[in-house]
Amino acid sequence: MEYGDGLSAVVFAAGKGTRMHSPLPKVLQPLLGEPMLRYVLSALDPLCPGRVHTLIGHRADLVRKAFPEREGLFIVQKEQLGTGHALATAWEALRGNPPAYLTVVNGDTPLLEESVAAAFVEESIRERRDLSFISLTLPDTGAFGLVLRQDGRVTGIVEAGDFNEAVHGPKSGEINAGIYCFRTEAIVPLLPLLDSDNLQGEVYITDLIALAAARGLSVEGCNFGDDPRLTGVNTPAELSKAEEYLRARIVERHLERGVLIRAPQGVRIGPDVRIEPGADITGPCEIYGRSSVGAGARIASHCRLQDAVLEQDADMRSFCHAEQAVIGRGCIVGPYARLRPGSVLEEEAHVGNFVELKKARLGKGAKANHLSYLGDAEVGEKANIGAGTITCNYDGVNKHRTRIGAGAFIGSNAALVAPVDIGDGALVGAGSVITKNVPADSLGVGRAPQRSLPLPLLGAKKH
Ligand code: UD1
Ligand code: CA
Repeated sequence: MEYGDGLSAVVFAAGKGTRMHSPLPKVLQPLLGEPMLRYVLSALDPLCPGRVHTLIGHRADLVRKAFPEREGLFIVQKEQLGTGHALATAWEALRGNPPAYLTVVNGDTPLLEESVAAAFVEESIRERRDLSFISLTLPDTGAFGLVLRQDGRVTGIVEAGDFNEAVHGPKSGEINAGIYCFRTEAIVPLLPLLDSDNLQGEVYITDLIALAAARGLSVEGCNFGDDPRLTGVNTPAELSKAEEYLRARIVERHLERGVLIRAPQGVRIGPDVRIEPGADITGPCEIYGRSSVGAGARIASHCRLQDAVLEQDADMRSFCHAEQAVIGRGCIVGPYARLRPGSVLEEEAHVGNFVELKKARLGKGAKANHLSYLGDAEVGEKANIGAGTITCNYDGVNKHRTRIGAGAFIGSNAALVAPVDIGDGALVGAGSVITKNVPADSLGVGRAPQRSLPLPLLGAKKH
């Protein structure tokens, strides 16, 4: 359903999230490597593209920085005086181009799905409701706002702390999920009537419900039972539970599409990761960010990929880390390899145990199989890097590049002091400290010549 400019959305993300006990604003808490807010925004964006605003306040700078692509869609709430004040602040920003309907979602509902949000908004607009919200019925109503009804009709929402059985009657178990849809023409005039006359001394958005109901406006609480996708995150325990829910859902979707996931309970895959059917992944492992995994590629247990590309038929063995790295078709990596940002392995290259790469490119079929550090380096096709080889790329001030030509052979334990150039087909003797270029097809040796001395000279030693 397309509503054009008839619908806008606001995500409330200005609060501190005190109960998280974290300096990070709650909406930036990561779930599977992505900030909580990202999930809410991607559930809403399809409903009204370009019209999903985010209300920010506490550490607004950090939230802005985490979503640079949404610049222009932020609204600042300088003081966080409560969710009712949040709505009034948002409306101030939107009133110049007022939408007929406004949907408001608390930023701490990362499990909200596009289909749920769409069904709720669609029904609210179809029924021309003045005010609707999503409610749940839970065995433990915790700190949620409690929905009041009379003869089945919603009469108000009372916050947990303000609830008084003598006044409000017994609890029904129905709570407010914090997702609303307002017909703005009917509801905006009620905003000035909100006050902060309650236990927390905050302006509550939820007071709009009683105000609207008392005026005979059409108010509906759309009950979604105990749907786990609609409960918010307020505490570390709730975050962990929500993350586990997302994790299982994402893994399930990949399995359904034909990705083989073994020991799936330990596999953590971010929502933007792309995996082709036919990839073979064993848990526990983590694949985050914009990573992608090609068909026939394998990831063994205990690997972590962040914004890394594993092309078709590449084989990542256990205990590898790859960040902003590209691992070409048919490469073998690990066990125990670390590919830092800017590492590129061309087709069929091999990187073995305890090898660290940073801004290093290994040409087609090149090998660095044991105990090496290659930083700011270019390694040609089919070159072989012996065990213990180090590119000395940093002189304490600047970083310098090492170039190793195609088919070159670097003996074990060589130190290549950059900037330095090893020509195509050149050979570097084991244990060398190479400070000057080695021309193509030449042998470069830079080490003290071995001497053998007769033992008596070293002092009396009896056999
Ligand atoms: C709110 C509802 C409660 C509902 C629950 C669902 C109110 C008064 N209560 O309670 O009925 O059951 O959500 O999760 O709304 N925020 C701002 N600016 C503010 C205050 C809050 O942007 O001035 C944001 C917060 O960052 C948060 C959201 O609004 O994302 C909800 O605020 P929060 O304080 O978490 O409300 P709850 O106590 O959870
Ligand atoms: Ca909340």
